[in-house]
Amino acid sequence: MALAPETIAEIERIRAALPEARSALLPSLKAAQGERGWLPQETIKEVAEMLGLDPNPAYMLATFYTMLHTEPVGHYVLEVCRSLPCYLRGSDGVTEALRAELQPDEHGNSADGLFSLKIGECLGDCPHAPMMRVNDDFVGPLDAATIPETLAILRRRAEGGRVRGLMADPAAGPAPNEGPLTFSNAIQSLPLTRVRD
Ligand code: FES
Repeated sequence: MALAPETIAEIERIRAALPEARSALLPSLKAAQGERGWLPQETIKEVAEMLGLDPNPAYMLATFYTMLHTEPVGHYVLEVCRSLPCYLRGSDGVTEALRAELQPDEHGNSADGLFSLKIGECLGDCPHAPMMRVNDDFVGPLDAATIPETLAILRRRAEGGRVRGLMADPAAGPAPNEGPLTFSNAIQSLPLTRVRD
C-alpha cells in the first residue's frame, strides 16, 4: 500500500530542507512510521526510492534504530533502559512489573495489541534513571509500584478502539474533547517527569 499524500508531502519537505538525501532518510522513515505505526519492507523501499537511495542500506538503518519498527507494534511502545545507571536504580523491577501486567508474547506485544515491550540501552538521560521511552516521550524516574496504575490509565484512554495498534482502526484518532493520545497526557496524574522529547 502506497504512502498517503500527506506523508509523501512531509518526506518531500524533509528532503528539501536537507542538503543530502542520506540525511533525510531517518526523519523520512519516522514520518512513514507515523502513518503506518511500523515500517513494512515495501514502505522502507518506497521511502528510499523517493529519496533516490538504495533500499538495502535503508533497511539496515531501519533495523538498527530501536525507535524504528520493522514488525507490527502496539500503539504504545515501551522501551525500558537496561544500562548500568538505570539497572542500579531498579530498571529490572520496572521491566518485571511491565511483564507481569502485559504478559507479552514472543514479539513483546500484549494480547490486546495496545502495548509493545522492548528492552534497550542508555536513553541519554541517566540522571532520571530508571528511564523508559514511550513512543517519542522519555520518562523517569520510574517506580515499579506505579506501573499497574500507569498502564491502567493508558488502557482507559485507549478504550473504544481510538488508537492505532495491532487490533485497532488505523484511521481512528482521539475522541472528541480529549487531548492527543500521548503518553505524557496520560501520565499527568502520576509522579513521573516527561524529561525531554
Ligand atoms: S543508563 Fe538509562 S538513561 Fe542512561
